[in-house]
This record gives sequence, structure tokens and C-alpha cells, in this order.
Amino acid sequence: MPQNNLPCDFTIFGVLGDLSRRKLIPSLYELDKAGHLHPETRIIGVARHDITQADFIEQMDAALQKFCKNEPEPEVKERLLKRLFYVLINIDKPEEYTNLAEVTDQENRNLVNYFSVAPFLFDDICKGLNHAGLTGKNTRVVLEKPIGHDLASSQQINDTVSAVFTEEQIYRIDHYLGKETVMNLLALRFANSIFTTNWDHNTIDHVQITVAEEVGIEGRWGYFDGSGQLRDMVQNHLMQILTLVAMEPPVNMDGDSIRNEKLKVLKALRPITRENADQVTVRGQYAAGFIKGSPVPGYTEEEDGNPTSTTESFVALKVDIDNWRWAGVPFYLRTGKRMTTKRSEVVIYFKQLPHNIFKDSYRNLPQNKLVIRLQPDEGVEIEMLNKVPGIGKGIKLQKTLLDLSFSDAFRDGHVANAYERLILETMLGNQSLFIRRDEVERSWSWIDSILDAWQSCNEPPKQYPAGSLGPVASVALLARDGREWEE
Ligand code: BG6
Repeated sequence: MPQNNLPCDFTIFGVLGDLSRRKLIPSLYELDKAGHLHPETRIIGVARHDITQADFIEQMDAALQKFCKNEPEPEVKERLLKRLFYVLINIDKPEEYTNLAEVTDQENRNLVNYFSVAPFLFDDICKGLNHAGLTGKNTRVVLEKPIGHDLASSQQINDTVSAVFTEEQIYRIDHYLGKETVMNLLALRFANSIFTTNWDHNTIDHVQITVAEEVGIEGRWGYFDGSGQLRDMVQNHLMQILTLVAMEPPVNMDGDSIRNEKLKVLKALRPITRENADQVTVRGQYAAGFIKGSPVPGYTEEEDGNPTSTTESFVALKVDIDNWRWAGVPFYLRTGKRMTTKRSEVVIYFKQLPHNIFKDSYRNLPQNKLVIRLQPDEGVEIEMLNKVPGIGKGIKLQKTLLDLSFSDAFRDGHVANAYERLILETMLGNQSLFIRRDEVERSWSWIDSILDAWQSCNEPPKQYPAGSLGPVASVALLARDGREWEE
């Protein structure tokens, strides 16, 4: 068994890249500041550039200045910079991995290797680590998304990594699982009896999951155009949120207990195929429009863009979960770039009451709603009816909100960002916030069927103006069922 209280040699492959500078190094700073790093923990940066240790420290110092949320505290920054070491390795040269073996100590430390590089390089890194004998029981590898482009390519990546490491050593990242509010879904569902007993087809009418982004492609055209919103956001982030909302209670908080239950949900998803895709899916692509009053180009007019691209930047889906709990309760999912504003939320619509005794005040009693705001402005809200205070004829009802804002309720706590939490969990050896191989592959096989249906019908995506709520067809998706999106 690996020991989790050991100091760590945290190695970042691709340490000079964007993710490392923007997220990993600043998150390590925050962890150090909060006292979460063992005093002897070291951070080892690996890249193929011929730079000195002093150059490396200078570059990481600049990254901290630029990307830390607040001005770094000098004392913490100095402490962190002292933990940093640079190791030059050409990733495809196995013999060079001895450079890493010379500075690490896998007998007395946990060795966490973070692959912050494109997946086609995972094979080389695994072979190199194997060559240098860096595969012992205290070694872990952390894989950034995307784990593949479809089921076949994700299996290939997983085969490559599992040829060297066991599943217990592999940590697949979905940064949404590191978000405070996404984890709070577990607490909300399984620590509150009002929700545990009201969470199925008897009480819930339908569920909406929205992950709206305001940003466009942000200089990532090359990657995004080959991917699209279904692969980039639905296959991972939205599927993870869906499984946490829909899963059965796990027996405990162990990694595998939680992941077993999530997998059961993925197995129960009704396939979307060529036969039903036009009824339950919407693909969109943004045209030119306005974001916060400023004009922005359309998807195909973005820098480096291909004017004939038919890649989707918006997806809406109606998803059925064919199991006992959720029979007849649709889950509507939508996500898009260049929407009105950045907003991620889960909305649970409860069933309408069978009989209305307040017809004089409200002809049709509205459904109760539980809104779980994931970001920004994290919180939980319940929309319910109350009597308007006053005397006189009859009872007058009004919609009111029970509103719990996390920033008000938990004023003093530092809210860790997703990477802080996930990095710490890799050091501690807790796999519950990471995706298991069977989960990632099950999710790809469901997504592949949608991609196949879209490809076979060969219809271009529906246009929507940047700064809007997506194409009209997404409104129609719910309207066909007599429902509408929460706005
Ligand atoms: C990433 C996607 O995984 O998540 C990006 O590749 C997307 O396209 C991002 O913008 C959204 O993450 P967040 O944390 O800003 O909601």
C-alpha cells in the first residue's frame, strides 16, 4: 500500500507550458500558503529546454506574479521557490529519464508525475519512467484531459498508460470534480434527509443542467475545431455533474464506492442514435454578436478560423436514464461558448401538485424549484410559494426564494480552486475525485453514438448570435415537452 503521509516529489512534465504557469504553479503556491505541503515536498519541473535552474526559478516567479489571485506573500513565495528544481528531459528519449531518477527518491517519498502535455506524449513518458525504474508503489501519474477523441483513442491512451502503471496509480483529471460546489452536490444529496427522500421520479418532474460560457475560442482554434463542444465539455464535465445528481447513495466516501455508483448511471443512459438524434439533440455554432455590449466575431471568423467549419460550439440534449429511480424524468443538458454570461447550474423541477386549493390567487400553482448554482456566485436556492402577509378576503400567494449564498454563509474560508484540491488529493492518494478507466470509456461510447448520428445526417449546426442563449432549436427541444429553460 502507498503511504500518504510522506513528503512528495511532485513532477510536472511540460512545466513551461500554459497550464503549468496559469494553474499548477499558482495552485501549489496556495497549497503551500495554506500549510498543505509537507515541509520536505519538492516540485520538479521537466521540459526539453536548455535553461538553467536560475532561469527556471525566474520564470516560475513571473508566473506566480502574473497568475496568483492575489499578490503573492514574499515569505510563502520564497518557500515555494526553494522547493523547485528543473530537470531537462527530451520526452522521447528514455535514457534521459535517469536525470529524473537521480533527483527523486521513490523509496522515501510519494512520486506524483503530472502529465501536463498533449496525450500523444503519454506513451513516451510512461516508457521513459519505466526505463528509469520510476514505477514503484509510491508512484502516481496524473493525466490531463482530453483522454482521447472517441472510445477507440481513449482505449489506446488507457492501454498505453496501463502497460506501465496499475489503475490505482492513475489519476485522470476532470477539473469540474475539483470545484467546491460540484463536490457539494454529494453533501446536499446525502447529508440532508429532505433531499434523500425527495430525489426520484415520484417527486421530480425533470432536471436541467446548464454550463454556459461567455468566452469564445480564446486562441485555441486548432484544438477546439477538431473537438467541438460535445467532446470538450459534455463528454467530461456535464457527464460528471449528471452522474453526481443521478447516482445512488454510495456506501461510503471511498474512491471506488463513489465511482461504482457513477458508472451505473452511465450504463443506464438511453443511447442517442441515428433514429432519435434529431428529436433529442441540438448542435449550434455562434455567429457574430455582442458580449457585454462589445462586438465579437462569429466562430468561423475567429483568428486562425476556417470559414467553412461546421464544428459545434453549443450543444443541448434531452437525456433519459433508464433505471428505477429516474424512469420518465428527462435530464436536459446545455452548454455553449459565447453565451450571454458565464453560468453553471443544476435546476431540479419538482412535480406539480395534484390539486390546487388556491385557485383564487393562483390559477396554476407553479412547480417548486431547487437551483444549485455551481459558478459564479455559488449557492443553493429554493423557489416556493408563500402567503403574502395581510388580512382581508382570501389568501394571496407569491413566489419567494430561500436563498443560500456560499460567499455570505462561509465568509472566512478560502475557497480552494479546482486544481488546488485535485493536486492535494494526488499527493494524498485519494482517487475519489478522479475518473476511473471504465467511467471514461463508458462515457465515450455514449458520446460516440451521438457523433455518429450527427455525422450521418450531415446537417450544419444551427447559428446563434454571440451573447445569446443559444439557437432557437434549443428552446424548441423543451417546448416540445411543454417545458422551458430556466433563465
Ligand atoms: C475546459 C474546456 O475543460 O473547461 C474549455 O476545454 C472550457 O473549453 C473550460 O472553457 C471551462 O472551465 P471553467 O472552469 O471555466 O468552467
